[in-house]
Amino acid sequence: MTSAVPLHLNEVSKSFGPVQALKPMTLTVDGGEMLALLGPSGCGKTTTLRIIAGFEEPDTGSVVIGSRDVTDLPPNKRGLGMVFQNYSLFPHMSVGENVAFGLKMRGVAIAERTRQARAMLSLVRLQGFEDRHAHQLSGGQQQRVALARSLVTNPSILLLDEPLGALDKNLRERMQFELREIQNRLSLTCIIVTHDQEEALTMSNRVAVMSDGEIVQVGTPTEIYERPRTRFVSEFLGTANIFAGTVVGPDGDEAWNVDLDGKPGTRAGARSEAPIRPGHRVLLAVRPEQLQIGPVASGMITANVKDLVFRGSYFAYELTTEGRDAPIFAYSQRRQEIPADGIVGLRWRPDGAVVLQDAPPS
Ligand SMILES: Nc1ncnc2c1ncn2[C@@H]1O[C@H](COP(=O)(O)OP(=O)(O)OP(=O)(O)O)[C@@H](O)[C@H]1O
Ligand SMILES: [Mg+2]
Repeated sequence: MTSAVPLHLNEVSKSFGPVQALKPMTLTVDGGEMLALLGPSGCGKTTTLRIIAGFEEPDTGSVVIGSRDVTDLPPNKRGLGMVFQNYSLFPHMSVGENVAFGLKMRGVAIAERTRQARAMLSLVRLQGFEDRHAHQLSGGQQQRVALARSLVTNPSILLLDEPLGALDKNLRERMQFELREIQNRLSLTCIIVTHDQEEALTMSNRVAVMSDGEIVQVGTPTEIYERPRTRFVSEFLGTANIFAGTVVGPDGDEAWNVDLDGKPGTRAGARSEAPIRPGHRVLLAVRPEQLQIGPVASGMITANVKDLVFRGSYFAYELTTEGRDAPIFAYSQRRQEIPADGIVGLRWRPDGAVVLQDAPPS
C-alpha cells in the first residue's frame, strides 16, 4: 500500500447558477488523517467531495493530492476511492464483479482481478460472498461491498459521503469501528461526510463544521465540542445553553468573571480565547453536563425543574428561569434531590462555560 498522502484544497469555490454552493475554501487533510465534514443539509458537503473526486469542476482554486495538482485530472487519474450514501452497487453484477469493477476498467486480467477482489472482500469480512448479488445482501453487507469496491484500486485518499446513513444504530456503530480500523491499517487519508454529530466526534481525528458553503471551525473533536467558537457550532454539536452577560474582570489565564443578564448577583466563570475586556457584552455557551444542580444559594441561578428524563447513562433535567424563554438543560450522572417546590440552584465551574465569538447582544 502507498504511504499516507495529504490533501489540500486551495481557495476552492463553486456556484450553480445563482447558488453559491461553496465560498472559497482552504483546507488541509494530513496524510492518514480522518477528517469529518459536518453540517446541515445543503451546506456544501457533497459538492466539496465531488470537487475533490473530480466529478465537479471548481470555479476557482485548486485541489492538490500529495504534491500533485490534480485540478485538471479526470476522476480515475486522481488515486482516490469514493463511497456514496446509497452504496450504488451495480445490480446486474455479482459481489465479486462489483468489487473487481475498477480493476476491469484498468484492463487488469481476470485472474488477477479475481484474486484482488477476494482479498478486498476478506478485508471487509465478506469472504465467500463473491457470487451473491447486491439484493441478496443486508444493508451493512452492501455497505462493505461498496467499501471493498472503492479500495480495490489501492487509493491513497478515501471519500465517504454519509456511508452509514442507511444503517440502524447498532450496525452503524459497529461499522464505524470497522471503517476506522481499515482506514488505519491502510494509512488512508479520509474525508467522511456526515450529519450525525456523534459519528463525527467518535470517528475522526478532526472535524470541520460547515455552514452555508464555508467551514466555520476546524479542530479535534474535543476542541470543537468544548471550545465552540460560535453559537452555531455549539448548538450543532449537541445541546448548548446560551447565556448573555457582561464581563466583570479576569479570573486567571483565559478565565473571566461574567455578570449574567437579568440575574443580579450571579457571577459566573467563562473561558475566552479571543481577547475581551471588562464591560464587554458577551454570549456564553454551557454544555448541559457542565451545569450543576443543587440547593439554592447566593451567586447561583435560581431555576424551576420542569421535566426529568432518564436517558440510560444519565438524567436530563429541563429547567426554566425567570426572564428567559429558552429552557435550560442540565445532565447529571445521578438523580438529584429536587425539593417539593421544584426550585433549585444552578451553577458551573469557572471553566464550564466558553465565551462565544458571535456578535454580543446589545
Ligand atoms: N448540480 C447542481 N445544480 C444546482 N444546484 C446544486 C447542484 N448540486 C448542488 N447544488 C446546490 O448546492 C448547495 C450545496 O449542495 P450539497 O449537495 O453540496 O449539500 P450537502 O451539504 O451535501 O447537503 P445534504 O446534507 O443534504 O446532502 C445546495 O444549495 C444545492 O441545492
Ligand atoms: Mg450531500
